[in-house]
Amino acid sequence: MSKTLLLTGGTGYIGSHAAVAFQEAGYRVILLDNLCNSSAATVDAIGRTTGTKPGFYEGDIRNGDFLDRVFASESIDAVVHFAGLKAVGESCGKPFLYHDNNIAGSMALFAAMQKHGCRSIVFSSSATVHDPKHAPLFTEETPTATTSPYGTTKLVVEKLLGDLADFSGWNVVNLRYFNPIGAHPSGHIGERPNGIPNNLLPYIFDVAAGKREKVRIFGNDYPTPDGTGIRDYIDVNDLADAHVLAYEKMASGIFGESGGVKTVNIGTGRGTSVLEMIRHAEKVIGHPIAYEYLPRRSGDIAEFYTSARVAREWLGWSPKRSVEDAVRSGWNFIVSQT
Ligand code: NAD
Ligand code: WQD
Repeated sequence: MSKTLLLTGGTGYIGSHAAVAFQEAGYRVILLDNLCNSSAATVDAIGRTTGTKPGFYEGDIRNGDFLDRVFASESIDAVVHFAGLKAVGESCGKPFLYHDNNIAGSMALFAAMQKHGCRSIVFSSSATVHDPKHAPLFTEETPTATTSPYGTTKLVVEKLLGDLADFSGWNVVNLRYFNPIGAHPSGHIGERPNGIPNNLLPYIFDVAAGKREKVRIFGNDYPTPDGTGIRDYIDVNDLADAHVLAYEKMASGIFGESGGVKTVNIGTGRGTSVLEMIRHAEKVIGHPIAYEYLPRRSGDIAEFYTSARVAREWLGWSPKRSVEDAVRSGWNFIVSQT
């Protein structure tokens, strides 16, 4: 019988793409989400994409009774834990909210898993846990340090999971995502930021769609070839595939009886500047995109990217889509929704 995976935050941007990837790989998928940053319509959209509607439980990971009911109703083999708040700027104004939602929520989830005998998890961590002093190349060996409450929640949860692997026999893979972009090529699922987008590509799309006047480029005086910030953008479909491989690696018994933990950076190993991203978008969309230079955004660093070596060697993963592929699928999603 095929294995059943519970995807917390499964109606969100990355979770919905992972749901498609897991279903396409033959797994049974159950989504759990409180819909604070997504919509229940995504459950149907995943069904339209794959031909199979996933299971769905609406509720909060901080609610232990709710989690108990989910785990008692389903036979869950592993959890892929996407649920969390993710806005760096917001977290600086609301640290208690982020600690509660992301750390206390994860602890409630882990307690329910332990109680119901489910001890395998893939966790959505972030490039933001790397100490910026060590930029531009962040590897799994790079020392960690955080510069926002959001980043702290990711690092704390990684450490909690490390304890569960070391002392309670859990199987854990932390995937540290770099900058996910793009959408499923079907146009059924994609990224839907609320309000003014924080991230670069959604903002570029808003300008291209006539919703905002100009892309605000935060800094053109960085020590990079064109002066704008460089990031390692990863196609969300490639990122989704990494979750399937991470689960399969755990399920193959790589950690043995006593459990274990592995942390893997998921990026392409190549950087793209803000201006280069605007050029990709102009090419895909077919018209010029207006922009202006503003001062650097507080907390930003000039450049970071990863080496995809551990992902390649340990996970057997490598990116298959280019930045331009991701811009094309992302724009296709925007056009499909209008
Ligand atoms: P998203 O906001 O689209 O998805 C997160 C989902 O979690 C949402 O559907 C939201 O409703 C749900 N959620 C939040 N708190 C919850 C709670 N207490 N109980 C139940 N559901 C809850 O974000 P995303 O971009 O898909 O990110 C998924 C995960 O990946 C997050 O943990 C995020 O921190 C991490 N991550 C994202 C990025 C990125 O740039 N998108 C980069 C690195 C890491
Ligand atoms: C990319 C580049 C900006 C918007 C954030 C989080 C990180 C991770 C991914 C969750 C930078 C520039 C941006 C704009 C711009 N999320 N930019 N104008 O800051 O690398 O990472 O999302 O874990 O934790 O911090 O991504 O898309 O905001 O910025 O010029 O309107 O685009 O300065 O160089 P970032 P981003």
